[in-house]
Amino acid sequence: MSESLLQINDVASLQARCQQWRDAGERIAFVPTMGNLHEGHLQLVDLAKAKADRCIVSIFVNPTQFGPDEDFDKYPRTLEKDCELLKARGADLIFLPTVSDLYGDNISSDIHVPEELSNKLCAENRPGHFDGVATIVAKLLEAVKPNVAIFGNKDYQQVQVIQWLVKHLELKIKIIGAPIVREDDGLAMSSRNQYLTRAERQQASRLHQVLECIADGLIAGRRDFSDLEAEAAKVLNKTGWQVDYVQILDPNLAPPREKGRDFMILAAANLGVPRLIDNLRCIISAKSKNRK
Ligand code: PAF
Repeated sequence: MSESLLQINDVASLQARCQQWRDAGERIAFVPTMGNLHEGHLQLVDLAKAKADRCIVSIFVNPTQFGPDEDFDKYPRTLEKDCELLKARGADLIFLPTVSDLYGDNISSDIHVPEELSNKLCAENRPGHFDGVATIVAKLLEAVKPNVAIFGNKDYQQVQVIQWLVKHLELKIKIIGAPIVREDDGLAMSSRNQYLTRAERQQASRLHQVLECIADGLIAGRRDFSDLEAEAAKVLNKTGWQVDYVQILDPNLAPPREKGRDFMILAAANLGVPRLIDNLRCIISAKSKNRK
């Protein structure tokens, strides 16, 4: 456990501290979050600590990535508990900027994600969402200037957007997409799971199960991608979900090739109030047939 968790609220003090660490030859890993931390986030902290000498976590509920009908105001803010968890996990610094610190008077997105990333999956029903994510992540990376930044692969499209962002801005920062952390029944951990009723929680692992079924189909040699997607969506819709998408793509989020051997299976659906997302990578090789 780290002796103390430094708390910093403004960009200038953060930059001064990071510079001290860099001057001492220390490498910095950064985990951006919106707080309400769970085991999924904490495993990002573990990975950050394994990759660098110092681990910084930011908590900032970013207004520009929420649509007008989304849950920005209701997004759970649990700072005291988050600090306890980060302290116990050995993070070095928690960065808690204010909206005006990061945006000044202009709360809008000034980075626009290219169409090939913003015309599909979560972007379709959340216009402007990834512009908001790219804008805030650029501001945070600029403030921290880490050696490495770590994001959860549950938000696979987000990780692709951030990979694009660092190339676009020519930043020398390594981006790591960390494995999805799941509950025992396969449900991907998410801050939004707490909105599930008890009955919905019992249904919630079905999202992961339908992805596994598609992977089984691909491994068995099926390449009727639209049928596989439609079958999965039907199962979900019949069992109380409202499907946004179930899609098989390649790992760059381009359409899959019939002869392809590396697939991403991605889904988003509402179960009652929360909109849950999940994905599964299915790599088919002559020797091993596996999935992540
Ligand atoms: O994944 C999240 O929690 C957010 O989208 C992020 C990356 C912290 C940007 O606000």
